[in-house]
Amino acid sequence: MERDAGDSSGSHAQNAGGGSGGARSGPLIAAERVTRSYRSGDLEFQALKGIDLAIHAGEMVSIIGASGSGKSTLMYILGLLDRPTSGNYLFDGVNPAALPPPAVAELRGARIGFVFQQFHLLARTPALDNVELPLLYQGALGARARRTRARDALARVGLADRMRHHPTQLSGGQQQRVAIARALVNDPPLILADEPTGNLDSRTGLEILALLQELHAEGRTIVVVTHEQEVARCSSRVIALRDGRVISDRPVPEPGRAAELLAALPPPEDALAAGAPSGAGGRR
Ligand SMILES: Nc1ncnc2c1ncn2[C@@H]1O[C@H](COP(=O)(O)OP(=O)(O)O)[C@@H](O)[C@H]1O
Ligand SMILES: [Mg+2]
Repeated sequence: MERDAGDSSGSHAQNAGGGSGGARSGPLIAAERVTRSYRSGDLEFQALKGIDLAIHAGEMVSIIGASGSGKSTLMYILGLLDRPTSGNYLFDGVNPAALPPPAVAELRGARIGFVFQQFHLLARTPALDNVELPLLYQGALGARARRTRARDALARVGLADRMRHHPTQLSGGQQQRVAIARALVNDPPLILADEPTGNLDSRTGLEILALLQELHAEGRTIVVVTHEQEVARCSSRVIALRDGRVISDRPVPEPGRAAELLAALPPPEDALAAGAPSGAGGRR
């Protein structure tokens, strides 16, 4: 099937995000007839029913579809956290099914950053340590280099002044920024985000979307599962799933810019209330 992903896979996409592996021209993500079945007892449920999909470096793709349509199942496979029951999946030309598990983990750690709806941060651990964690698991860098990378990643998402805060001391939007910093700490060429704005109010969601768009503009490939129209409209391509199948796959002719949508919003109520003492008289 021929798909037109528009002009979005522009030249800035080459060698994006510090990823290794030179000027391959094939897709970064290539799924062929991918199925995924879950078994419970005698019952087998097919969550993915034959997905064909190619995503090239430099795209920003939204995946939409009703709850239960298979979006997260697909993301796990794309992100090398799970394997198809049948069909083929190639990540940057590599067949992970042919690799031993440690090599898959290494590939995933180096090339893919994950962002989830629920943030998945360690609650009683400073932001800096949360961000450092993937580097600790990989064990390739010394303590000082890990700190520097984690600091840089937190600064990149605008949290230079919150590095010692625990997630419980941060707002939802700030927690998601920490999670994005953690996803960025290895400078991966691919970011997979599963409903990253699902737990955030609309302004904060737009801020996170604007950040994802910046990361895309820097050359990273972004795949984002979303229920939000705005996220889809700010992508370069929208893939819709229904009952484990792709039912549409379309380029977005002129993707919106989250930063512009943000600028057009009325000022946040927090700003109005900021000067007010908490407790009595704090409400307006
Ligand atoms: N671990 C699992 N075991 C059994 N069924 C599952 C499992 N994970 C997902 N499913 C089922 O697969 C379908 C797709 O789930 P999911 O990929 O999470 O959908 P979405 O992310 O689009 O809401 C759903 O019907 C869900 O109940
Ligand atoms: Mg899901």
